[in-house]
Amino acid sequence: MMSTGKILVVDDDANLLELVRIRLEAAKYEVVTAVKGEEAKAALTGDNIDLSIVDLKLADQDGMSLMGELHAINPALPVIILTGYGSIEGAVEAIKRGAYGYLTKPIDPRELQLQIARALENRRLASENVRLKELLKEKFDFTNIVANSDKMQKVLAGVSRIAQTDSTVYIHGESGTGKEVIAKAIHLASERKNKPFVAINCAAVPEALLESELFGHEKGSFTGAVRSTKGFFAQAHEGTIFLDEIGDMPLSIQPKLLRALEERQFYPIGGEKPIHVDVRVIVATKKDLAEEVKKGVFREDLFYRIHVIPVRLPPLRERKEDIPHLVSHLLQKIALQTKKAVKGITPQAMKKLMQHEWPGNVRELENTLEYAVTMAEGELVTEELLMEMGVPTALGSPETVRRGDGVALDGPLNTLKEARAEFEKAYLIRLLEHCSGSAAKAAEIAGKYRADFYDLLKKHHINLQEFKQEFKKAD
Ligand SMILES: Nc1ncnc2c1ncn2[C@@H]1O[C@H](COP(=O)(O)OP(=O)(O)OP(=O)(O)O)[C@@H](O)[C@H]1O
Ligand SMILES: [Mg+2]
Repeated sequence: MMSTGKILVVDDDANLLELVRIRLEAAKYEVVTAVKGEEAKAALTGDNIDLSIVDLKLADQDGMSLMGELHAINPALPVIILTGYGSIEGAVEAIKRGAYGYLTKPIDPRELQLQIARALENRRLASENVRLKELLKEKFDFTNIVANSDKMQKVLAGVSRIAQTDSTVYIHGESGTGKEVIAKAIHLASERKNKPFVAINCAAVPEALLESELFGHEKGSFTGAVRSTKGFFAQAHEGTIFLDEIGDMPLSIQPKLLRALEERQFYPIGGEKPIHVDVRVIVATKKDLAEEVKKGVFREDLFYRIHVIPVRLPPLRERKEDIPHLVSHLLQKIALQTKKAVKGITPQAMKKLMQHEWPGNVRELENTLEYAVTMAEGELVTEELLMEMGVPTALGSPETVRRGDGVALDGPLNTLKEARAEFEKAYLIRLLEHCSGSAAKAAEIAGKYRADFYDLLKKHHINLQEFKQEFKKAD
């Protein structure tokens, strides 16, 4: 049977030691004995002691000072003091100095058991407390993640459990649901948090470069390889590698990736010697990879290799109760980024946000708020601001919403980035019209520094002179 605790008994009376040992062993405790202070300290240092019983009067040392020394080694060690009958003052003093309790000689067996059981229970609770605090601290890493809905709470609970392991995590969710946020949170909550987190977007790197980006190459291994480089896998050594949009990994590279994941070793392009890495792998995809496997564009063996711990991020429309919390979180974030703060949002505007289906999920919400903040002239995000951005489309059905300047929000949907650029340009044009071509005034309304505002104009190839001339003509 497993012992219920290891107890160090220190007394210069060998008979008493033997007696206590027999009793404690009968109660399934493991017992270590010491006659001298030095022995006791050595035992505490070398062994996993759960509790100590110390005689107040030892031959070589007084028990009180020994207790101090034991506590210096392990401050959490419960110590029970043994005193001769009639030296209660000593016992009281011992408790003041941190003893858990005291027993008078001759030892009452029941009292002995009781005190030990209580002390150990106390200690268990104390360490439980420490564990809970650690859990909370871990949660702390998730403070940037809004998760008030049950669905997201479940995701986070799962995430904090899997963070501790080295298993491959497979995050799937629609675009903008927070896949990258979750991947980083897993890394930050893991023991690898002080090591690199290396992210690579497999969809963004051209096929011809991806292998070299992932695994590195030796100098001269292909035309243009003038230097040898370390790939992302090697850079992520001891940390985490995040393979984003893994569904876009070209078939040509999949076998090499599979081998690297299986063996945690690979050959850089043109390299003779394999490189070993210790990495935690997190992948993310918005595609249905099982479907991609059926279509034959994703290897089944690779799918099973990465599909170890799946984490599904629910779309925002399935957790609308998160929206108000996200709004206040995002408004704060936007205030920091744009140096323009709005205090909040009108109830009507919030209602609109709650009604919207958010096909672009949190990212779309964030962009919408960013525009609203940029355009807001007052302290609040209003319904009108949102309406101009076409937020209140009918639930599901693509209602045609046209902005004054003619940006159609119906028709084929393009990427958020394109939509954003389109919107930005239209906004700038309207703004400049409103300001009669005065960049200073326009920048102020937009809440941008003048230089940044000029950059924006340049980005959209907007010619300020044309506006000014146009305005003069109209005059
Ligand atoms: N739960 C959340 N709490 C706070 N912010 C969030 C949350 N989820 C997402 N965000 C924010 O929304 C934006 C999109 O998140 P992220 O980039 O992680 O999404 P994604 O799923 O990787 O998107 P994509 O599919 O477009 O790559 C980020 O700015 C992120 O900070
Ligand atoms: Mg992403």
